[in-house]
Amino acid sequence: MSSHGDGAQESPAEAPEPLEGELLRAAERLFDQRLPLARTYAEHLCTTGITHGLLGPREVPRIWSRHVLNCAVLGPELPSGGTVADVGSGAGLPGIALALSRPDVDFMLIEPMERRVDWLDAVVKDLGVDNVQVIRARAEEVSDEVMADVVTARAVSSLKKLIPLTVPLLDDDGELMLLKGRSAAEEIAAAGKAIKKARLQTPRVQLLGEDMLPEPTTVVRARRR
Ligand SMILES: C[S@@+](CC[C@H](N)C(=O)[O-])C[C@H]1O[C@@H](n2cnc3c(N)ncnc32)[C@H](O)[C@@H]1O
Repeated sequence: MSSHGDGAQESPAEAPEPLEGELLRAAERLFDQRLPLARTYAEHLCTTGITHGLLGPREVPRIWSRHVLNCAVLGPELPSGGTVADVGSGAGLPGIALALSRPDVDFMLIEPMERRVDWLDAVVKDLGVDNVQVIRARAEEVSDEVMADVVTARAVSSLKKLIPLTVPLLDDDGELMLLKGRSAAEEIAAAGKAIKKARLQTPRVQLLGEDMLPEPTTVVRARRR
């Protein structure tokens, strides 16, 4: 969390990452007709996202490569016409980036913090998209109501803790798609008990966007047994 998050008048210290070259090509591929909306979303992230403390100011110069596109590369993996629950959506990552990339998929952004939910509601309204619903709750509070084809999460907690939060939101043949860092394999090894208890198949690690981004996105994927 940013230590600069409270200054409503504060502007980001550095210029936003330009969307050009390979990043522009990736954005055109992933967002297609909705690229202008993705630009608007990135602008929100780099302005009110910073001043409201949802993102640190140091993220501004890497807003596309590390955030918006890094999340959107999961878009082509989502099943057509399905539903996705994004747990701990924060500034809408990956939920909003994916919703812009996949207008045919419905998204539930599950986020407990009021300040973040207010920001998400305002951004979704401004984008004018109809495939995003913001739910103010902790994931464990909505396990009886939410039944998704895919559950996503990024930077919420270690896999060991994330599995009991996310698996109850999955439909029987649904799939977890958790964005993780380079330690994904170690996290899987450390989550052995949680994987067994949740009756999950052994998770697999997949790299996405290798052909599009300077750094690919690591995703941990698993279905129920
Ligand atoms: C570090 S932020 C990450 C936000 C966003 N996913 C990203 O990658 O930028 C973690 C978010 O998870 C939310 N969170 C923490 N515990 C949660 C829970 N049990 N259910 C849902 N969200 C939770 C927090 O409120 C916070 O917004």
